[in-house]
Amino acid sequence: MIVLVTPRLRLRTARPDDLEAMHAVLSSVEATLYWSTPPHADLDRTAVWLRAMIDIPSGEGEDFVVEHEGRVIGKAGLYRFPEIGFILHPDSWGQGLASEALTAVLTRGFDVHGLDAVIADVDPRNAASLRLLARHGFGETGRRERSWLVGETWCDSIDLALTRDDWLAARPG
Ligand SMILES: CC(C)(COP(=O)(O)OP(=O)(O)OC[C@H]1O[C@@H](n2cnc3c(N)ncnc32)[C@H](O)[C@@H]1OP(=O)(O)O)[C@@H](O)C(=O)NCCC(=O)NCCS
Repeated sequence: MIVLVTPRLRLRTARPDDLEAMHAVLSSVEATLYWSTPPHADLDRTAVWLRAMIDIPSGEGEDFVVEHEGRVIGKAGLYRFPEIGFILHPDSWGQGLASEALTAVLTRGFDVHGLDAVIADVDPRNAASLRLLARHGFGETGRRERSWLVGETWCDSIDLALTRDDWLAARPG
């Protein structure tokens, strides 16, 4: 099992017993407002999602559940190299925890996996994610209309990227 430790968080490989905690996140209407799927209606839906997360072949991606004070509060990772994805339970928002998780995930992507860039695909209405990514140096590379069909609603995308060079340049020291 891979474990990444930050001042307040522990990011680790997902396990089947993360089901209830991840369902609490993925069934949240607030947390999934700009997510790629509607809120999960039942545990079975989350079980399928969690199984896919656990089964990501090494070399294709690396995703982590995020633990804070001993509880799973969400997930963050490069779920499909080189794309980053993250979601936290709303009870944990606004404390800089996503930012802390991103630092760990980006460090791992660039330092361990040797990625040339990390990319992200964000709904233009998702101010929190856009702000978070901008704080970490991501820049816009393009826009797409009607890129995701979420339930019955078409949503748009802003494509962003953080290059390895920009990551290294922004790094303290
Ligand atoms: C995006 C998300 C992970 C941010 O989590 P968080 O722990 O609250 O974020 P942080 O506290 O680390 O804040 C990061 C930055 O975003 C800003 N921010 C947070 N919420 C914001 C909001 N609603 N509107 C605007 N900016 C916001 C913070 O002020 C901070 O910027 P700063 O450093 O300039 O002050 C969380 O809102 C979430 O889970 N959203 C739903 C899932 C989602 O949309 N995932 C992304 C799909 S691409």
